[in-house]
Amino acid sequence: EFEASEVDRGVWRYAAALPFEMGVSLPEGDTPLHEVPRLESEIGVSRLRIKHEGMNPTGSFKDRGMTVGVRVAKELGVDRLACASTGNTSAALAAYGGRGGMETLVLLPAGKVAAGKVAQAALHGARILEVDGNFDACLDIVQDLAERGEAYLLNSLNPFRLEGQKTIGFEILEQFRDEEGRFPDRIVLPVGNAGNTAALYKCFRELVQSGALDEADVPKLTGVQAEGAAPMVEAIENDADEVRRWDEVETRATAIRIGNPVNAPKALPGIRNTGGTAVAVSDEEITGAQRALAAEGVGVEPASAASVAGLRKLRDEGVVDDDEAVVCLTTGHLLKDPDAAAAAGNDPESVPNDTDAVLAHLAGER
Ligand code: F0G
Repeated sequence: EFEASEVDRGVWRYAAALPFEMGVSLPEGDTPLHEVPRLESEIGVSRLRIKHEGMNPTGSFKDRGMTVGVRVAKELGVDRLACASTGNTSAALAAYGGRGGMETLVLLPAGKVAAGKVAQAALHGARILEVDGNFDACLDIVQDLAERGEAYLLNSLNPFRLEGQKTIGFEILEQFRDEEGRFPDRIVLPVGNAGNTAALYKCFRELVQSGALDEADVPKLTGVQAEGAAPMVEAIENDADEVRRWDEVETRATAIRIGNPVNAPKALPGIRNTGGTAVAVSDEEITGAQRALAAEGVGVEPASAASVAGLRKLRDEGVVDDDEAVVCLTTGHLLKDPDAAAAAGNDPESVPNDTDAVLAHLAGER
């Protein structure tokens, strides 16, 4: 049923660290680690790489968790899978659930999910429920449904999702290492529910515990949130043990428009124990970073660009040193949010149906 040939690729190459030999796979993982020399010198760090998770099958890092989570659901024999989502999880659940032959149900905050993601969930066959409330309200409902036995929960509260997402860490360490054997000093990533932060921390902890990685080589986990949805940043800045739920959240980066990061108990120690930090960025800073990445050919959605915007800010503030080697995680593809891309990019120009007129237009003012 699961083809052995795929085990050598992507996420399942790391089966030794996962609960199964193979999952419901499309396949996922093996994403590129891009050089971005212009951004590297502009921001001013010794090495900057972009781990582009938008290059997964459904265009986000969620696929790495879903290949494991849906396999678990198959083992359990459940027939209905469900998630709350700001979009990407719903796209991944719909695709992987469909591949696994299961029914999928997704709860989305009405009007706050980017077009590409809704289109994916729709075409991959999910039942889409648009809730009059934000993501956190959707997650409350899905947890209720799961507790009542109506559906199997595949949000990042499901620990098997995080198992798959650990493989981002393995890939970064393998791809980043140079001849001198240097690991990244820091990994910067966008934070919503803080599942990915928790997954990376678990990855590095397991490597240290097994003796494969020195404690001193664990990258500093550095989380970035949008200013309008920054409860984790608030907790880090206040040195708080718990994260206060924000009832009102807003940001152009709809993927991380989240006020109640449910994985905070796992992610806060990850940020603190690795010597990392958390920072909030404005929507304007996010769009600026999205443009800068795109100018070097790397197309990402707004939430993903938050990682680069956060690095830029921490470098400006002197929190990040100029001799640091840094990996920024870009979690979703540009095409996930075509409206944001169009708004941030160049406007199309109308020209007459005539070559000379086109040349005259090009010679004129823009
Ligand atoms: N980046 C993107 C593009 C995301 O879609 C998400 C989360 C995150 C970052 C934050 O990751 O929650 O692990 O801290 N998206 C979820 C969803 C909430 O429903 O697609 P996190």
